[in-house]
Parts: sequence; structure tokens; C-alpha cells
Amino acid sequence: MKDVNVGICGLGTVGGGTFNVLTRNAALIAGRAGCNIRIARVASRRNRDDLELGDIPFSTDIFDVVQDPDVDVVVELIGGYDTAKELVMSAIRHGKHVVTANKALIAVHGNEIFDAAEKAGVVVAYEAGVAGGIPVIKAVREGLAANRIDTVAGIINGTGNFILTEMRAGREFSEVLKEAQDLGYAEADPTFDVEGIDAAHKLTILASSGIGVPLQFEKAYTEGIAGVTPYDIAHAEQLGYRVKHLGIARRREEGIELRVHPTLVPKAHLIAQVDGVLNAVMVDGDAVGQTMYYGPGAGDEATASAVIADIVDVARAVATASDQRVPYLGFRPEAMEDLPV
Ligand code: HSE
Repeated sequence: MKDVNVGICGLGTVGGGTFNVLTRNAALIAGRAGCNIRIARVASRRNRDDLELGDIPFSTDIFDVVQDPDVDVVVELIGGYDTAKELVMSAIRHGKHVVTANKALIAVHGNEIFDAAEKAGVVVAYEAGVAGGIPVIKAVREGLAANRIDTVAGIINGTGNFILTEMRAGREFSEVLKEAQDLGYAEADPTFDVEGIDAAHKLTILASSGIGVPLQFEKAYTEGIAGVTPYDIAHAEQLGYRVKHLGIARRREEGIELRVHPTLVPKAHLIAQVDGVLNAVMVDGDAVGQTMYYGPGAGDEATASAVIADIVDVARAVATASDQRVPYLGFRPEAMEDLPV
């Protein structure tokens, strides 16, 4: 069986989870991919004593991964905008495929990145950037490929949903946020979670992959949960509603509506039942009708599951393509509509 070599950049929550799952489930992942996925190098500012790297080369400079001629796929798990963008663009220039969990990077710089990737004949895959472990990008890209999609909506920030759920049980906002940080759910800067920015990044990507418009993060209406009080939650309950932080992308005659904000959802609705760190995404397709995808929206191994799904997609193609080119998994702006927001 052929080896496909991956280089992991970043050993934080998701990087560690990816390393552990790739190592633990190596044989079954190889069986599914049709090739061995070999961790050829890892790079991180700090090493982690809890990970058994064995003789896998370790660097503190993430750019070593891009320079390593053995590496076929660069796995970007450092997060943030600038260094991550530099890393991904450098990987593309070196002809390497990229798998990333970085929704901020894709939402803000994705149009430029996908353009460069397409010219270079490499893939940039980003399943793990949206809704943690739920394979929702794959669902809209493949499972629903036949459909015109007009609406994508749901709970797409696990930390925010965890906080709202625990506040309903009477706990303090700040105490629950601290717990979400300790559990590895929150962003490095947790204001991204509580101010709705993380959800807006994900909604931007979902709208692009699902509805088929270029990434337009700056056009999304963004409101978080920081202003939601225990009184709001209790009062909504009395009236038969649950407060949920939703991301909603809708095709309208005037253009695409993109918004994230706290919403009153009738208690009987499926979305109202989604609690804790779970996410749920509803997608309306003209052929299939409404579908819903539900599962862990954050966490080390849940997100690693989505990272590795992308690695398997890319590796399968790398292992079988004689010229090393693989099917384009990313967003293709020229093939899609450019509706105003
Ligand atoms: N901070 C994010 C969340 C992590 O809570 O949803 C997963 O994207």
C-alpha cells in the first residue's frame, strides 16, 4: 500500500486530537483511504509531552513542514489569520495540498487562497472549519450536489450553545465560559465565540459551499450572546421559546441574507433541543427538501474526525492519481453565482 505523507502544523487542541486519532486508528483509516497516511513531520511552537511522537521529526518552525520534500499534505491547525495565511500560501506555492480547520482564514482570505490553489492544481480542504465533527461541508458539496440550496441555518458555535444551555440551568456566564475554555471548546480569543464572529466565519463558508456565493464575511450581520441575560432566557422559557444563537444564510430576491444572532426558537422545534456543545445545521434543498445534521461542534477528537476526513479525501486521490493532481474539493468562484448580500 502506498504512503501519503502528511505534515501537521500546530499541536493545540485539534492538532493533538488529529495526531492521536491518526495514530490510534491508522489501520482502519488506511483501509478506507486505500493508502497509509503517514505523519512525516509535526511542527508546533511547543512540544507536547503527552503525545507519543516516537521518531517523527519535530520542528518548532511550522515552515519546516512546507519545506520538507517528503510532505504531500500540509495540515494547518495553528489558527489565526496572518501566519496561517502565509503558511497556506507557501504550501500552495510548494505544490502541496492543504487541510485546514481554520474558519477565520477561509472566511476572510478563502477567495484568494482557493484561486491560488486552483492555479497550482492543489486542494485546500476545510471541513473541520465548520460545525466541528459534523460532515456538513461534505453533505452540501457531495450528498446534496443535485440541489439548489436556498437556506442553510443552525447552531454553529459550540461554546455559545454550551453557555446558553448552562445559563438555562442557572449558571453564570463567566463561569461557563471558563469551563468551555478548559474543555478546549473556545477559540484562543473567546470573544470570537461570544461576539458571534466565529459563527459568522462559519456561516460565510456554509453560504459559499451550500448556496454557492463567494465568501463575503464582511457582509454578515454579526451579533453574539454577550448581551443575553438569565432574565431573557427564563422569560423566553415561560413564553414557550428557547434562546439559541443561530447562523442563517438565505437566498432572497435581493441577494443573500447572512446573519448570526440570538433567536427565539419554539421549544418544540428540533433546533431548540440541541444543547451543550452540540451543533445542528439545517439545509433546504429543492430536490431533497429539508435535511438536518447534528453532532459535536467542537472538541479535540470530534474536530480531528473532520480534519482526517479531509486528509483521507486528499490522500485517496493523491495515492491513485498518476500525475498527483486531485479532484478540486474547494470552492470555485467562477463556477458559482455572485449574488449581492
Ligand atoms: N470555538 C469553536 C466553537 C470551536 O465553540 O464552536 C469549533 O469551531
